[in-house]
Amino acid sequence: MSKGKTSESESTTVKVSKDTQAKLASLGKYGETMDQIIQRLTIQAKGLEDVVAGKSSICFIDGHEGKLLYRGYDIADLAAHSTYEETTFLLWNGHLPTANELRVFSEELTSKRPNPADLISILTSLPRNCDTMDALRVGVAALGIFDDPMYNQQEKAMSIAAKIGTVVAAIHRHKHDLELISPRDDLSYASNLLYMVTGEEPSKDDTRLMDVLLILHADHEFNASTFTARIIASTLSDMYSAVTGAVGALKGPLHGGANEKVVEMTNEIGTPAKVDAYIKAKLANKAKINGFGHRVYRTMDPRAKILKEMANEFVRTEKEKQALEILERTETILREEKNLYPNVDLFSGLALNHIGIPSYLFTPVFAVGRAPGWLAHVLEQYSDNRIIRPLAEYIGPPLTLYVPIEARTSAGVAR
Ligand SMILES: CC(C)(COP(=O)(O)OP(=O)(O)OC[C@H]1O[C@@H](n2cnc3c(N)ncnc32)[C@H](O)[C@@H]1OP(=O)(O)O)[C@@H](O)C(=O)NCCC(=O)NCCS
Repeated sequence: MSKGKTSESESTTVKVSKDTQAKLASLGKYGETMDQIIQRLTIQAKGLEDVVAGKSSICFIDGHEGKLLYRGYDIADLAAHSTYEETTFLLWNGHLPTANELRVFSEELTSKRPNPADLISILTSLPRNCDTMDALRVGVAALGIFDDPMYNQQEKAMSIAAKIGTVVAAIHRHKHDLELISPRDDLSYASNLLYMVTGEEPSKDDTRLMDVLLILHADHEFNASTFTARIIASTLSDMYSAVTGAVGALKGPLHGGANEKVVEMTNEIGTPAKVDAYIKAKLANKAKINGFGHRVYRTMDPRAKILKEMANEFVRTEKEKQALEILERTETILREEKNLYPNVDLFSGLALNHIGIPSYLFTPVFAVGRAPGWLAHVLEQYSDNRIIRPLAEYIGPPLTLYVPIEARTSAGVAR
């Protein structure tokens, strides 16, 4: 008898616990019966919508309330008080560090920033006009070859998180035929990242904004790139392969590339007076508006809320003020017309541009921010592993007889 089936009869009735029933009910859509929920979750879940694909203690999202927690800490508190280093420690260790733990952790992270010379040679041999995410994918994959082979898993995670920022800055400098800038030990992760990109030591405000952007992007449960990393780790492949795969998944415009498109849209609209006509025409053509909608959030993405509040503080130039006005008007239209809310990408481009990150570097910088989350999930996967191997619902032809080639018609069917 298989687990959970009744013993009294031949019936296939399956008993589920009250917990499971409650969990299933919470995944229901308005008016759905339990059977419909189960049917949708097991068979109809295109894109694995609402499917719980594993357990994790790293990140919690409440899509209805618009809450995001890392290891139990509210993203709003972390954005207000934490740093890249502290949040990375939290994600990897499950608790906030003591002052001494943070000092030791930050020193080790800082010491791992410089890239191996062979890796720099590869990065500077790439075509200057190549896609920056393609270059990042090459960089992370190559790091797996040139990094110290004696590193343990924790050291590898440190090395990847530390060096991925240096790789992104090198990609940018090489693109413009500028001299590569070596990392500085006396700067925080956020400050050093901006320094290596722009060549100038950033202001306190810009460093703070960079820190917040990195924190907000650090993890997001089983998003596409993180799930990719976990699948790769579940085969017991190495950490560099897992992060390389994650970079590939992040490159897609439905995942990491939306904020660049938001900036393009803002420039295309030009002035606040033109927003209504532009957005309504797009919606009439059933086009998607970047920076809106989310698989999990049914309200405003809490990260967008934080960035919007910050944007109201940091915008200075006329161009920035206009851009913010355009985005806010777009937000109102999308809410009224489609009941859609902003996601993190609506305001992040404005913030990144403000601190000197060019649009083509948005997704690579997202990868720098997300790397601690990818690595936390890879470490969690290794710690309690079972290969991730789901099933497909087969919708192809039934068993078909093999037809020798001489008996086939052009359509491939024997007559
Ligand atoms: C994020 C996203 C990929 C989620 O996709 P999803 O969960 O598969 O949702 P769907 O694409 O199935 O959309 C569901 C419905 O909402 C609409 N919708 C979703 N996002 C929309 C958007 N940004 N603009 C206009 N309509 C949107 C869809 O057209 C669809 O409507 P329909 O049922 O009438 O066909 C999707 O909202 C999107 O493409 N957004 C724009 C890109 C973006 O900002 N990505 C960054 C995510 S952080």
